[in-house]
Amino acid sequence: MSRKPKNPNVLTLKESREIIKSNLREMKRLEKQKREKRTLSDYTTVMRSDNNVLEIENLETCFFTDNGVVRSVNKISFDVPKDSVVGLVGESGCGKSVTSLSIMQLVQAPQGQVIGGEIRFSSDELGYTEDGEKLCYDITKMPTLDMCRIRGRDISMIFQEPMTSLNPVFTVGYQIEEVFYLLNPEATKEEARQKAIEMLTLVGIPMPETIIDYYPHQLSGGMRQRVMIAIALTGDPKLIIADEPTTALDVTIQSQILKLLQKVRHASGASIMLITHDLGVVAEMADYVVVMYAGKIVEKGTVYEIFDNPRHPYTIGIQKAKPSLASDAAEELYSIPGNVPNPINIPDECLFKGRCDRKCGKCEGTYPKEIKLSDTHSVFCHLYDEDREDI
Ligand SMILES: Nc1ncnc2c1ncn2[C@@H]1O[C@H](COP(=O)(O)OP(=O)(O)OP(=O)(O)O)[C@@H](O)[C@H]1O
Ligand code: SF4
Ligand SMILES: [Mg+2]
Repeated sequence: MSRKPKNPNVLTLKESREIIKSNLREMKRLEKQKREKRTLSDYTTVMRSDNNVLEIENLETCFFTDNGVVRSVNKISFDVPKDSVVGLVGESGCGKSVTSLSIMQLVQAPQGQVIGGEIRFSSDELGYTEDGEKLCYDITKMPTLDMCRIRGRDISMIFQEPMTSLNPVFTVGYQIEEVFYLLNPEATKEEARQKAIEMLTLVGIPMPETIIDYYPHQLSGGMRQRVMIAIALTGDPKLIIADEPTTALDVTIQSQILKLLQKVRHASGASIMLITHDLGVVAEMADYVVVMYAGKIVEKGTVYEIFDNPRHPYTIGIQKAKPSLASDAAEELYSIPGNVPNPINIPDECLFKGRCDRKCGKCEGTYPKEIKLSDTHSVFCHLYDEDREDI
């Protein structure tokens, strides 16, 4: 009797054991590396441009799972310029949140690890080199204790779901005061309370003197999200990471929160990294857009370049999939055929090729290189290779 052929999607016991063994070895090595004593010079470097608050270069973050290595963020590079909003867009599971968690050093260890690249964060406390280059921190190499000084003060985060992000057993005032004390340990109780009221007023909470003593469950979803924004702003950060800040809210509250974010951005001069599925929100808020697909960046540029002149078939597809009032009501809404590929053990090739209607012979080869279309606009697609013959 002939043997049944092996299903490539099912791991044998031997394969499974090997994966677990190699994962444990790798996680142990990376955790040991993190615990090694480092001096300031080990985790400082120089910014490529003084105009950026954050520069991400070749960032690689993965999860060591029992089924294999999930490359959630696969060698991505982009900048967040000072006083700007950068929108990070892409389908669910493309690595947007893992990118933001990597910036905050909040990736779930030991399974989740940043295994390569640099996250350069501009810091005024470090000054300049003798050659006049701006010194900065490389967050990928920074010890956790030093990172705690930056979190909340220089970089803060607004999470998607305020109900699970706020602590249910403390009043909202206490949670704002906690951040204030962290940055001003000498402050008196009265000063901290005053600051909390000031922050609640800033984010448009009515009767802040009363609401300050409320628990999160006593507030509506929109008010809770405002409290989250108040907490994020208490440290007067240079960079705010907002991970889908309006997804859990209805459209009217969504628009109020976006207006609020715009207001605080202009008032504080902070840069915002805005993560969202919603292209409408990006068009309204962002100056620059980064489009991600399956852990990679496929296109990036200014908001005008991405919306008026999208070049990657995926960017064109997600824009076509947007409902429009001008379209015929009887017309079926466009959707990109197929699914996002399995993120485990992904090959070094264009991951969109299974869904792309413009695929060519070259697309079977290695991952396309970055093609610069302007100083700010670039795309990763073989359609724009200079040596391509069949276009
Ligand atoms: N703790 C984890 N363990 C294993 N895999 C994970 C873990 N967290 C995230 N991933 C994987 O990393 C990939 C990227 O996830 P991420 O949360 O960044 O997606 P996302 O773009 O934020 O999606 P969404 O828009 O749905 O929030 C996904 O394939 C996900 O399965
Ligand atoms: S590289 Fe090829 S398959 Fe990938 S998006 Fe471009 S044309 Fe499509
Ligand atoms: Mg997410």
